[in-house]
Parts: sequence; structure tokens; C-alpha cells
Amino acid sequence: MNERLENRIASAALDYVVDPPAGQDAVINFASPSELYGIFAESVPLPIEADQPPCDDDDLLRAVRAVIEHSVHTSHPRFINQNFAGPDPISVVGDWLGAALNTTGATFEAAPVFTLMESAVLNKLAAVAGYPLGPDSIELPPGLFAPGGSTGTLFALQLARHRHQPDIVRVGSNGDRLCLFVSDAGHYAAVKSAALLGIGMDAVIKVASDDEGAMAADALDAAISEARSGGRTPFAVIGTSGTTVTSAFDDLNALADICEREGLWFHVDGCYGGSALFSPAHRHHMAGVERSDSFVWNLHKMMGMTQQCTALLVKDPHQLAPCFATGANYIFQPDKQHGEFDSGDRTFQCARRIDSLKLWLAWKARGDQGFADRIDHAVRMADHTRERIAQSGGALVPLVEGDFTNAVFVWVPPSLRPFSGAGLSDADRAQLHRLPPLVKLRMQAEGTAMVGFQPIHGINSFRFLFMNTSVTTDDVDAMVDLIIAYAEDAWVELNPAG
Ligand SMILES: Cc1ncc(COP(=O)(O)O)c(C=O)c1O
Repeated sequence: MNERLENRIASAALDYVVDPPAGQDAVINFASPSELYGIFAESVPLPIEADQPPCDDDDLLRAVRAVIEHSVHTSHPRFINQNFAGPDPISVVGDWLGAALNTTGATFEAAPVFTLMESAVLNKLAAVAGYPLGPDSIELPPGLFAPGGSTGTLFALQLARHRHQPDIVRVGSNGDRLCLFVSDAGHYAAVKSAALLGIGMDAVIKVASDDEGAMAADALDAAISEARSGGRTPFAVIGTSGTTVTSAFDDLNALADICEREGLWFHVDGCYGGSALFSPAHRHHMAGVERSDSFVWNLHKMMGMTQQCTALLVKDPHQLAPCFATGANYIFQPDKQHGEFDSGDRTFQCARRIDSLKLWLAWKARGDQGFADRIDHAVRMADHTRERIAQSGGALVPLVEGDFTNAVFVWVPPSLRPFSGAGLSDADRAQLHRLPPLVKLRMQAEGTAMVGFQPIHGINSFRFLFMNTSVTTDDVDAMVDLIIAYAEDAWVELNPAG
């Protein structure tokens, strides 16, 4: 008898999970959109036809292999493109198990085990963050899982606005010109959330950050005073713990002091750097998080959980139901057993993925020490990058000092050494800015690595960051050497006359 299609697909996926590309394997077998259409046309075409018949199993298996072959191999140690990377394999299979048991986390009735598991994980995360736990924290855990950090931020700001105007959920805005504050190095989730909340993107006041990318607390003070004297109503401050580009940490205690004095909701965006809390060596970056009202934390970044796995911790979870509940009596029936455990009316979502299972499994499998090791490894690799930059004889120049997971730098041609950002001519600045995209293009074409770039102080710069525990110092060295070699070639290309 032929093996069932689902077994064959699962077997290909499991092979990939246990033995992903590494070493000299390509990080990506890049194909353009038209090439991808052509590749799939050889097995199962990408478009779904108007009268799509069932496809042949063997063709589908070939298509699955094409999916694998032409996807980015984020588990490869030379994928350091973003603040996520290849997942912990336990998390992948945990996700599969959650999918196999396909249910919603909204009610105890439909998800008895997962309701308790989510509560256990949230209680532990809150304890790690230093949030106090109430006597009812099992049935009313200190937060909930959200579909990503941006959505968690949206929910947190809705809570903040609700505390400011408790009848807003029924009658809408009372007309206050609300505003909130985040550093100019903070994540764009703040402005997107403001748009969705109907207070407008202009309600987000970007506070100046220092050279490393952390919010300047005195600038926040000044921005709040200016907003009030301009007739606006501040209601929240977002502190960023681990900015996306430079992994900078705002001084949370300084921000908490200001929020307490000004009566503002204090939300911490620890989507990226919140996981520093797991490491005794690095949790000092998060000092003061225990004073926040809410704290969003992506376990799908540093902790290697599959996307998404986001916890939104809330200091007073009794605020959730008044903000989100509608009391639909066909699902949250008051007369069913154990309804007090239902989480569904404490959030916006109806169906809710089971994102706690994979984290619970990984935490139990790796232990607290395993979680701390992930953070310590990432910082060790970044420290090694910083050493390589320092030893490069001026070829590589850091744009921030940094002491966490991100090392951000530019390559400088011999003619511009020693590098002085301020002394650059406009033409040289423009050439330096054009360089990283060319280096990236070559990496993608040759499949040798994937490293992110982004503008800092107006010049595109490379960013090394290490979410994958299989990266070694040899990988770091190889990627540094690659950037130097590709940049030298690209500079010649850009300046053929020499
Ligand atoms: C600092 C920071 N906050 C928020 C987010 C948004 O999280 P998500 O991608 O889960 O929406 C990110 C994502 O990279 C981030 O780096």
C-alpha cells in the first residue's frame, strides 16, 4: 500500500527539522518570482486554478521539496538577518502537536490542558519579570498570549486608554487629544497601534534617544510638558528593552519614575530584549520592568520559539475583562463548569492558537539554565564580533558601542580611513550607503550568508545578531571575512576609476 501523503510530507519536514542545512550548504537558493513560478510549474503550479483538481501525491511531494529548497534556511548558522532565526526543534514539534490537537485557547471546555499550561507559563514569566502574583493567578493569570508583539502592543495601549477613560469601550472617545511616548529608536508597532486605536499616528511622540539608541529620560520629561502645554493628554509611555537595530535598553526605572509622577500607563516593549531576564549575567538591562503596567515579550525571537509566541504580561489582570469582554453567552456561558478559567473574554481574539505548549515543552526540556545559555551565547557571539571590528585596522567601524546582542558597523575603504562620519563628503557618504545592498545582493546570489543592513545616521550599516545557538566564532569570522571581501569588490565596482 502507498504511504499516505501526510506521512510523506511530515517525514520530509521532520528530516529538515533534525538536520537543517549548515556548513557549506547554501543559506538560500535564491530564485526570482518568475523563476519560482517556473520551478513550481514542473510539479504543482503555484496558482490555484479556477477548477483545481486534486494533484498527484508524487507531484505534491516534489512541490514540498521545492518549498524547502527555495525557502530561506533560517536555521543555518549563517542566517543572522533578523532578530529571529532557526527555531528550537522542540518548539517546532510542540507547534505541530498543538496544531494536531487543533483547538482554541479561548475556553477551558475546548482546551482544558492548554488553559492550565498557558496559566503556568504566564505565571512563571511574570515571576521572572518580578510582577506580583495575586491569590487567583491560576484562573486569572497575569496576562495572555497574543498573536505577535505588534498586536500585544495594540492590546496594551487599548488597556492604557481604557484606564484613562473607562467608558471608552461603550461610548468611544470623549474627545481628549490623547498622546503617548516612545523613543525614536522604538518599534513601529507604536504608530501602527495608534492608527488602529483611532487616535492617529501623530499621537505618538517620538522622544530623542542617545547615541546607543536608548531613550533620554530628560527628553521624555520635556516632551510630556510640551504636550500638556499644547493641550494634549498624555496617557502612556512605551519603554523599549532591546531596540531592533542596536539592541539598546531604555532606563526602565527612570521611565517608571516619570510615569508614576505623571500618572501615565507604563508599557515595556521587551519583544526583543525581554529575554535578557533569563540570564543572571544580563538581566540587569531589564531593571525596573517590574514597575511597568504591561510588558510584551516575544519568545519567538531570542528564545527560538516558532513564530509566533508572544506573552503580554499585565500587572493587574483584573483590567482585562472590563476592557475586552462582551459576554457572548453562547461560548462563555455563566452556567458551565470551570468557566472561571476561560480566557477568551479577556482579549480581543475569538479563536486563539495554542502558543503556550511549545514554550512549556521547551522550558521543561531545557530548564532555566538552557534558557540562560541562549542569551549568554548570543552576547558572546556579539562580543566576538566587536573584537573582530576592533582588530580590523579601521576597515570596520562600529556605529554604536553596544554591550548586548547586536553589533552594528560599516565597512570603510582604505581611502576613507580613519573613518569620520562628520568629515565625509556627500559623494563618499552616498557611495558608502550604496555598499551594503550590493554586498547583500551577492550573499543572496551565492547563498553564502544572510546579514541584515539598515541606515544609521544616514548610512547603510551591517548588523550582526545571534538568535541561533548553533552559530560559532568560526561562523562569525567567516561572515566578517565575507563582508570585507564582498565590500572591497563592491567598492571597486562603484568606483571603477579607483
Ligand atoms: C523591539 C520590537 N518590538 C516589537 C516588535 C514587533 O513584534 P512582532 O514582529 O511579533 O509583531 C519587534 C519585531 O521585530 C521588535 O524588534
